[in-house]
Amino acid sequence: MTNVDIEVHVNGSPRRHSVPPRLTLADYLRVDCGLTGTHLGCEHGVCGACTVLLDGEAVRACLVFAVQADGAEVTTIEAMASDDGTLSPVQAAFRDHHGLQCGFCTPGFIVSATAFLEENPSPTDGEIREALSGNICRCTGYQASSRQ
Ligand code: FES
Ligand code: FES
Repeated sequence: MTNVDIEVHVNGSPRRHSVPPRLTLADYLRVDCGLTGTHLGCEHGVCGACTVLLDGEAVRACLVFAVQADGAEVTTIEAMASDDGTLSPVQAAFRDHHGLQCGFCTPGFIVSATAFLEENPSPTDGEIREALSGNICRCTGYQASSRQ
């Protein structure tokens, strides 16, 4: 199948590539752009590890073709911290409250939580649980033990 020329703004920088029509956005980001912070767990839309922002909306990059992002703005976990390395508030909260263990799922959680808080800056616990219910972690118990 013939490659397709695309231009995607990734983390604020324009990138032009010629890609196979069936290349996923996740593989495009990881392989063509070298942005390996976007993780692949299930590769069929279940785990949320590959979550990125596409024009500000949280999407599963394993379910989006790179050609569908042509002309769009994509934001990955690599752009969550400031240029000087200062963590975003969500990243800092995950660090401060032991929100990760191995960290494999963490980029997806961070991106999902960031998008959610943009829409709903003062959520209830229930709304947070609902918003993050599409992100799966196989290490943690989702909340800290009272013994920690
Ligand atoms: S790798 Fe995309 S949802 Fe699991
Ligand atoms: S911290 Fe390991 S999968 Fe979530």
